[in-house]
Amino acid sequence: MNLDLLCSEVKDIARTVGDYLKNEQALLKRNDIELKGMRNYVTYIDKEAEQMLVLALQQLLPEAGFLTEENTVDFEQRPYTWVIDPLDGTTNYVHGDTPYSVSIALMHNEETIMGVVYDPVADQMFTATEMGKAYLNDLPLQVSKQAKLENGYIGFGIPYSLNEKGEHILQNTMKQFKKCSFRIKGSAALEISYVAAGISDAYFHSGLSPWDVAAGAFILQCAGGMCSDFSGGNNYIFGKEMVASNGAIHQEIMNYIIQGN
Ligand code: IPD
Ligand code: CA
Ligand code: CA
Repeated sequence: MNLDLLCSEVKDIARTVGDYLKNEQALLKRNDIELKGMRNYVTYIDKEAEQMLVLALQQLLPEAGFLTEENTVDFEQRPYTWVIDPLDGTTNYVHGDTPYSVSIALMHNEETIMGVVYDPVADQMFTATEMGKAYLNDLPLQVSKQAKLENGYIGFGIPYSLNEKGEHILQNTMKQFKKCSFRIKGSAALEISYVAAGISDAYFHSGLSPWDVAAGAFILQCAGGMCSDFSGGNNYIFGKEMVASNGAIHQEIMNYIIQGN
């Protein structure tokens, strides 16, 4: 399989679906917005965009299965799996806000082998196909060199269901408000990609799903960054715990925010 060639075709698909999202946002009406749960939105656009992705990716790699957010296609265990979020950042989207993105990862068995995250409004295409080969609009990506929490620029998110551990992490975050700049941008796939691009130094979030993180995490690792779960282990795609960083700041994030008292 020529991954670079496949990736350039996936980029075209992400761009087409991203343009669809951008055009539809202006047409969205209040009645089009449904709630899946408290402050968790969905629209026909999420589902339509997912169908567009599934049809196009199916043609590209007929042997691959799908793991998707909107379940417009059934999951089947296959060696190759597309893990996709057609619209990451729906809360921003339904409020007429940005950013939002299309997120596409290709997994081979347990390993991610490609990541594509596209922000159609900023026209930012983050991609990766192997270690050392991560790009933003075809320019090579590098993580930041920030080695301390102090003066760090750090993204995070608030999970839909906030348990005791999640609340504890938010309290720890608050204790660092005087030292670092924190941002909630509202699209996990992009926020992890921002770490890959050296825009931010780290990102953490609990309660995320594989389609939120798979593509971004791979892009970050290919750019020299680091991902872990909240125990420092590797279960960050399916384990609903994500710490993404430039590597240098990782241990301080773990010590003071994730595991700190
Ligand atoms: C959401 C976004 C958001 C994160 C949520 C996710 P969606 O994805 O990534 O930043 O805080 O937990 O569910 O619902 O917009 O695809
Ligand atoms: Ca998502
Ligand atoms: Ca989504």
